[in-house]
Amino acid sequence: MNFIKESADKNPIVDTVFAIVRKANAAKETFGAENVIDATLGSLYDEEGNLVAMKSVFSSFDEVTPKQKAGYAAGFLGNSDFRTLCTQWTVGGTNLASSVVATPGGTGAVSLGIGEFLETGETVVIPDIAWTSYAIMAQDKQLKAVKYSMFDENDSFNLADIKEKVNSLKGKQNRIVLVVNDPCHNPTGYTMSDSEWKELISFLNEVGETTPCIILNDIAYIDYSYNLAASRDYMKSFEAMGENVMAVIAMSCSKTLTSYGMRCGAAVIVAKSAESVRQAEIVFEKSARAIWSNVNNGAMHNFCNIMRNHYDEFMAEKAEYIKLLKERSDIFKTEAAACNLPLYPYTEGFFITIKVDNAVKEAYHNALMDNNIFTVQVDKGIRVAVCSLPVSKAKGLAKKMKDILDTVTA
Ligand SMILES: Cc1ncc(COP(=O)(O)O)c(C=O)c1O
Repeated sequence: MNFIKESADKNPIVDTVFAIVRKANAAKETFGAENVIDATLGSLYDEEGNLVAMKSVFSSFDEVTPKQKAGYAAGFLGNSDFRTLCTQWTVGGTNLASSVVATPGGTGAVSLGIGEFLETGETVVIPDIAWTSYAIMAQDKQLKAVKYSMFDENDSFNLADIKEKVNSLKGKQNRIVLVVNDPCHNPTGYTMSDSEWKELISFLNEVGETTPCIILNDIAYIDYSYNLAASRDYMKSFEAMGENVMAVIAMSCSKTLTSYGMRCGAAVIVAKSAESVRQAEIVFEKSARAIWSNVNNGAMHNFCNIMRNHYDEFMAEKAEYIKLLKERSDIFKTEAAACNLPLYPYTEGFFITIKVDNAVKEAYHNALMDNNIFTVQVDKGIRVAVCSLPVSKAKGLAKKMKDILDTVTA
């Protein structure tokens, strides 16, 4: 007997992270933690190996009252103060029409963006090297996915391939949804330049003349940009969007506030016309109601309390972790360059990815584990989570990884 509908993907989720985390933990038991390099975990960890739960965030959460934590949110769109403060936090002052729909994490926002614009069987455009959930969401929503290659042969951001993939859908479906995970791309750490963003928006404006386009900008890691003050500058390019282009910006309190388990985030919708924004808001709200109803009320109150009453303290604490991420990634990047370990272009963020041909990737990943180095396989690469890699273990790691790569490719 098979109880599951025919159209569902019945293959179990391929667990690329937690299976390796278990292996890393077993190696720590056997060989001692000091002899194991664990660069698997995708959350922020401190130098002592503890998950970071920022003091400013959780002392603020203690000020959220039991009634606020117990109660439902004010509505399916989220609490109004959360929605206002979230717009300010994400896009700042914008002359575009905008709305916010609170979501359970950035996941909820990305899911709305992938699910609500395309008809069953249509195609969403996603990056080839990417957070695996995009493809899972497409499948879940009975969409096809076409992947643009993130980088060309010169390691430049591959706008040409985005254009090719988008153009291949132009006129063939009612709308086009393009997913761009920027800045601090997971898993390469690439950040597009402002001019790449300008070119992308101007291209989408052209495509929009025949087929309306939605740019789904996943900004999960934006608040760890190394040049934080300039991290939103590229969003100015959204102001050049024509009537037929809309942006849905998926923000995640998980990363911003180190509060992954509290499941709070937002879909920030921006477009030229208020009517277009309202149309998206309506279907997002209905979908929210149908799937998760409303979002963690305590988490929304906490976001507001931090923004209003603990802003400086929070920003100062987060700045220390940005500094730490930069220190770890600088070490790894510099040493990788010195020994010719090939990396995808890393600008900033939680992850660095080593370029590895898919044909030898599995063997390389296993050889690393044989040497007590634990990482995660991604498409065409091996992800090193600098977010959880202490400075002491980042030192010397690139050379070790290069030597092992040489043995696998010899
Ligand atoms: C690229 C990217 N986008 C979105 C998310 C969503 O995270 P959350 O739902 O916890 O906010 C993640 C989490 O790992 C991610 O890596």
